[in-house]
Amino acid sequence: MQHPNIIIIGSGIAGISCALRIADKHPDWIIQIITKKTARTTNTRYAQGGIAAVMDTLNDTPEKHILDTIESGKGKCDEKVVRYVVENAASRIHELIQYGVPFDRNPSGELALGLEGGHSNPRILHVKDYTGLEIEKVLLAQARKRPNIKMLTYIQAIDLYVNEKKQCLGAYVLDTRKKEITFLHAEALVLATGGSGQVFDVTTNPTVATGDGVAMAHRAGAEIMYMQYFQFHPTALYKSKGRQKFLISEAVRGYGAHLVNSQGKRFVFEYDKRGELATRDIVSAAIFHELDISGMDCVYIDCRHLDYQDLSSKFPEIVSTCHRYGYDIKKDLIPVVPAAHYQCGGIAVDLNGQTCLQGLYAIGECTYTGLHGTNRLASNSLLEALVYSATAAEHILTHIPSFPHPSSVPHFSYSYIKPHSVVRYSRILRKWMMQSFRSLNNSAKTKEYIQRINELEIEVNAKYGNGLFPALTELRNMIVVARVILENAINQPEL
Ligand code: SIN
Repeated sequence: MQHPNIIIIGSGIAGISCALRIADKHPDWIIQIITKKTARTTNTRYAQGGIAAVMDTLNDTPEKHILDTIESGKGKCDEKVVRYVVENAASRIHELIQYGVPFDRNPSGELALGLEGGHSNPRILHVKDYTGLEIEKVLLAQARKRPNIKMLTYIQAIDLYVNEKKQCLGAYVLDTRKKEITFLHAEALVLATGGSGQVFDVTTNPTVATGDGVAMAHRAGAEIMYMQYFQFHPTALYKSKGRQKFLISEAVRGYGAHLVNSQGKRFVFEYDKRGELATRDIVSAAIFHELDISGMDCVYIDCRHLDYQDLSSKFPEIVSTCHRYGYDIKKDLIPVVPAAHYQCGGIAVDLNGQTCLQGLYAIGECTYTGLHGTNRLASNSLLEALVYSATAAEHILTHIPSFPHPSSVPHFSYSYIKPHSVVRYSRILRKWMMQSFRSLNNSAKTKEYIQRINELEIEVNAKYGNGLFPALTELRNMIVVARVILENAINQPEL
């Protein structure tokens, strides 16, 4: 395999945007994007709602977006980061439009802006209810046009190689089709690996969201912060099949849908005067409380009072998926539950997306930038990924370290073995995380779960030793991430 100048791990909005910027400014550099499945298998493609940005400068201001972000994050955001992201939003959105993202527009041609929880103004750009999918499609098409971007699919990153001077020189990767482990040298390595919702039993995240970047960075000695602030989205379709629950976008509540309990009563106003449009932490906590006191399994989204034609044209995916599950949004209540959705903490990075290890950058959901505080504001995540992909790219372009290719790559002690099912272990881990997450502030209980996770890890290591296959790598990463979530809850001072 040819040695690249830049390796980007992850092919979502963060990874590809970063690659495009570097590729355009330095056509002689090779940028290798590696991804463990197909290029399109990312969390980005499931983002329904959209991207928050102040585009309507008559009625909205960056100052309002900044205040909303900080209020959603319970005042625990880093204000300089919030300002930086919000103030760079419009330029990044214009770039996406230039690339060809067809954001919805009003009949007058203006960008159509949706409303979501915690926003004091409509400011969510969207493409119907499949915004992430469209963005992913457009960015991938752009990447394909650049000969110096190489997309390597079915390549699973296993571990980073960091030398004694704390310089990151590359990564060990497994070609999952050839079943070969190789070392890729990089002058700069960017983690854009997304989130880790799969460590929980109920999640909106796709099966690839196993926290690989956080786990690799942690093993390599990077700082991981505030993983305990894991956001639960209030409205995942109860009973959706498979490991990934289908999301009913917050934009549906922004459009006017109600949340009701099993008695048909709107209950969120009892918890917050903004009702269904309170921030996600509040709405999810209200639902959990409602389920605890009622003993019911789910609450319901009620769209029956809304204009069905208009709703169907704005949210075609949601309407048709509900239909597939047997719910007619015009007549039926849609059963929903909160589900693990977004990792607000992660690999600590500075304003340039740099970690504490030289040559190692991280962008997007795998990071902790300080933007989200304890609870991310709706639709700020794609925005953060966009802004930080640009800033990291600019920093790499001007500060590329020229670490020598290591003369001898240290022996990698793991080797490929024939895959086995590890579902038994991941299932146990996910159940524990669901149970422990709701009592994170009880440190005795949390310590007990950490102990259980440690024992599970010992069992896995005893069974497989230095063997390695894709599902086992993911399991090992999930074990690390689960433990870090619980350890951060105990060890890191409250934000
Ligand atoms: C949603 O559409 O509700 C999810 C978007 C986000 O996570 O910000």
